[in-house]
Amino acid sequence: MGYSNQFFKALSIREEKGGNLATFAKQSGVPVKKLKYYNKNNIVPTGTDLKNIMSAANISELLLRIKMGRLDKDIIEAIQENAEAILPLIETHVPTIESPMTNCKLEFKTNLGELYRGDSYELLKSIESDSIDLIFADPPFNLAVIYPSEINDSLRTEKYIHWCQEWIKESARVLKPGGSLFLWNLPKWNAALTSYLESMLTFRHWIGVDIKYSLPIQKRLYPSHYSLLYYVKGDKPKTFHPDRLTMDVCSKCYAELKDYGGYKDKMNPTGINMTDIWTDIPPVRHRKYKRREGSNELSLKLLDRIIEMASNKGDLVFDPFGGSGTTYMAAELKGRKWIGCEIGPSDVIQERFSLINDERKILDGYRKNINSLFPEKIRVEREKRGLWTCETIRKKKKANQLDEKS
Ligand SMILES: C[S@@+](CC[C@H](N)C(=O)[O-])C[C@H]1O[C@@H](n2cnc3c(N)ncnc32)[C@H](O)[C@@H]1O
Repeated sequence: MGYSNQFFKALSIREEKGGNLATFAKQSGVPVKKLKYYNKNNIVPTGTDLKNIMSAANISELLLRIKMGRLDKDIIEAIQENAEAILPLIETHVPTIESPMTNCKLEFKTNLGELYRGDSYELLKSIESDSIDLIFADPPFNLAVIYPSEINDSLRTEKYIHWCQEWIKESARVLKPGGSLFLWNLPKWNAALTSYLESMLTFRHWIGVDIKYSLPIQKRLYPSHYSLLYYVKGDKPKTFHPDRLTMDVCSKCYAELKDYGGYKDKMNPTGINMTDIWTDIPPVRHRKYKRREGSNELSLKLLDRIIEMASNKGDLVFDPFGGSGTTYMAAELKGRKWIGCEIGPSDVIQERFSLINDERKILDGYRKNINSLFPEKIRVEREKRGLWTCETIRKKKKANQLDEKS
């Protein structure tokens, strides 16, 4: 979709028929195509283009940047130094949030959770400050998807970023000190949101979750990861106990796939440290597991991992964008309290809760295969083939110690 015309507006360029775009291109010596590129991406030109544009439009770089909303360090410093003088000019533009009432409607309740129907920004405004232990957000990606709620998923770039900033600001407010916020999005959007997040929270990780989500695009790298941003309120998390993962082995011969060098005997039998690249999260594509077309359902395994890492039993989890309710299901199964919100119909979520025992089996299946270097089945297969396991290493060590003693 691109930005709205901030660049053209700053230069008083009119693109429509009879406008002055072609004339400006001639005057500045910058081709129309390039001017359109600057405008679509709200990019401040540099080098010769900048010089020529400033001269043709009789505008300074400073004014151009301010008009485009692209504030660099000098402008920010100037604003800081003149804050009192500038305040009366801008305070009427900044909305104050004072709205304890919400028009979000309680749709259904479980033993641990409450699901509301409505705009999550409205719901957020009614939530008490410093009250939530963990927030996971998987907003629409602004890719013109048609959701059952019929929300506008094709906003101008700056509108989408501003919308995200609104609910992020409220999310930071309601998070408990030491609480964690996870934000799932395309790398492009998460990259644009990091500096805003950093103004309120502390960066922990950019987790790359290896899932292919489109066909290869010509003249581009093949998009193969989602970004999962992880921030905390304050300087460190109050809860952090990541699962440990099993070692990757060949599905046929059970040999390890990576070379762990001579460190076998130092490997922790409870599994490998989790890294910031996750390659084992399955996409939800199978019809049987996909609850609702267009809901962009995430894997229960992803939410299990996040909830396990950053919350304890009895903690309160909030997800502002319900979809098919994966976060709420994971929270319920794991004994966390939860608050949910979905702007569209929630029948899929309610239906999902009526089949909670099936979901429990899926979750138990995931959890059976973690926090151990080799799950039972793999250990047995490796021993059959004479490959090392934690037990064989331990036995060997003991035998060596006895030899040394005798
Ligand atoms: C990407 S989906 C979330 C999928 C979810 N994580 C799952 O695993 O099923 C985003 C959802 O947010 C909902 N939504 C969009 N804007 C919203 C808003 N302002 N308030 C509440 N829900 C919203 C959409 O209707 C959509 O169902």
